[in-house]
Amino acid sequence: MKRVRTHTNPLNINHRFNSLSLPQDNKEIDIEIGFGKGDFLIRWAKQNPNHHVIGIDVRKPIVILLKKKLEQETLTHTSIFHGNGHYFINDVPHDNSINRLFIFHPDPWLKTKHHKRRIISHDFLELALKKLKINGKIYISTDVKALFDDINKQFQAFKTFKAINDSFWETSYQTHWSLFTQKDNRVCLMQTYEKIS
Ligand SMILES: C[S@@+](CC[C@H](N)C(=O)[O-])C[C@H]1O[C@@H](n2cnc3c(N)ncnc32)[C@H](O)[C@@H]1O
Repeated sequence: MKRVRTHTNPLNINHRFNSLSLPQDNKEIDIEIGFGKGDFLIRWAKQNPNHHVIGIDVRKPIVILLKKKLEQETLTHTSIFHGNGHYFINDVPHDNSINRLFIFHPDPWLKTKHHKRRIISHDFLELALKKLKINGKIYISTDVKALFDDINKQFQAFKTFKAINDSFWETSYQTHWSLFTQKDNRVCLMQTYEKIS
């Protein structure tokens, strides 16, 4: 069986998406960065047939696998892409257009010299703020406490992001990685941030 690499350095995935555009209609736009096996994306798409559900991941083989699954399920309101989520968010959605941005169990890149590979950075949050609608939300989960603390610290630099309580985590959240966390009795840390102005 062909081996699927578990880690790809996102800094090596540099292609841009300038020629791509999303449909211009009034449907809500939900984007998952780093969908992995895609379990959440498929379930969310089934629960929300009137949204555009979009996914982006840096690992090409899993993008190909999920594309096949989505075709079989005929989930035509989904689209998924291979690439770096930071560039995708920069190049594709219009400003003030995203309703939900999901980032579940982002790779923690624990060594200090690798922190620059993390998806959530000051620059990324600045970009997300520009692209989210007012009242748009970012959903973050991780089982790595040091990463969670760092992410929350990054958000604190932005007065227009507010940490909110959200029933989403009880009703809709489950990913391949969150099941691992549960199975190993590790704590899953979760937070929703809302763009308030
Ligand atoms: C630990 S896995 C979590 C997968 C899934 N979200 C889950 O909870 O099961 C992290 C995923 O993020 C992807 N990833 C990491 N950095 C990325 C980036 N800059 N843009 C898009 N995907 C990224 C990885 O390829 C991997 O599939």
